[in-house]
Amino acid sequence: MDIHWYPGHMTRARRMIEESLARIDLVVEVLDARIPRASRNPDFNALFAGKKRVVVLNKSDLADRAVTKQWIERFESGGMPAVAVAAVSAGAKKKILACIDRAIAPEARRVRETRGVRKTFTVMVAGIPNVGKSTLINCLAGSTAARTGGKPGVTRGRQRVRITPYLELLDTPGLLWPKLEDPLNARHLAFTGAVRDETTDIPGLSLLLLEELARTYPDLLAGRYRIETDVVREVPARELLSAICRKRGFLAGGGEPDEERGAATILHEFRMGKLGAASLERPREEEAHGADADA
Ligand code: G4P
Repeated sequence: MDIHWYPGHMTRARRMIEESLARIDLVVEVLDARIPRASRNPDFNALFAGKKRVVVLNKSDLADRAVTKQWIERFESGGMPAVAVAAVSAGAKKKILACIDRAIAPEARRVRETRGVRKTFTVMVAGIPNVGKSTLINCLAGSTAARTGGKPGVTRGRQRVRITPYLELLDTPGLLWPKLEDPLNARHLAFTGAVRDETTDIPGLSLLLLEELARTYPDLLAGRYRIETDVVREVPARELLSAICRKRGFLAGGGEPDEERGAATILHEFRMGKLGAASLERPREEEAHGADADA
């Protein structure tokens, strides 16, 4: 699979984060709830060493609720405050603020007791592309934030937005790079649209997605495409794709299944959550007790 994140991108992104480090007290690490492992940046710990952190599992509307709960427990048991939200829906702001509050409470109390003042904390939202950083910043700060960041030639009006009397938010997210070395991570990032399609073999990708979903969520495929669950489980992905094309009437010349159209549709529908909520990754046994919470 041809997916790239060039060293030049990484250097620029890292520099931007390093320049902001001195100004921030806490990092909100945004992950895609469907792929919390693949959407975690490998250098996060080193980049933000010494900073308070919380994990936000965003797009939880698209993920399997039971699996997301396991992930939250996994992060929390490793000492990392974590919360699941859908930044596109109401209620996300309150949940995130409550999670941030838990992370800063000890220091806020200490400062209040020793210096008699209420400290204002500055927060940065960080994560790999497409996890919903900008949506989350807008949800926390109002719709004018995060819109102009990163566009050359656009002068940004604000850099910090006050979101509560004791909390400020940087309006530009910290862009991190995805970890593409592991083929399974790369595949999961591609399924969810975190890496760009122009460089990807869509039919091949879609077949891999069908193969994985037929194993993990056969009922979702069966329900969406009106095919027997047993058939979904048993036939090879290629046949399943043909069957879906026929059901949808995606036929090319000669009545053959238009696999390219079918493949693109399946991928699109998965990304939009049209198949139903599905998680592609579950916490592993060895991660479950928090020993590896930062890995
Ligand atoms: P980024 O800054 O991390 O790159 O992500 P951004 O906020 O731009 O969000 C990426 C896409 O994900 C957007 O879709 C956005 O609406 C969607 N999104 C963000 N949060 C959620 C969520 O909680 N649930 C769901 N279902 N979607 C969410 P888009 O505008 O269609 O962009 P694209 O998919 O065309 O790239």
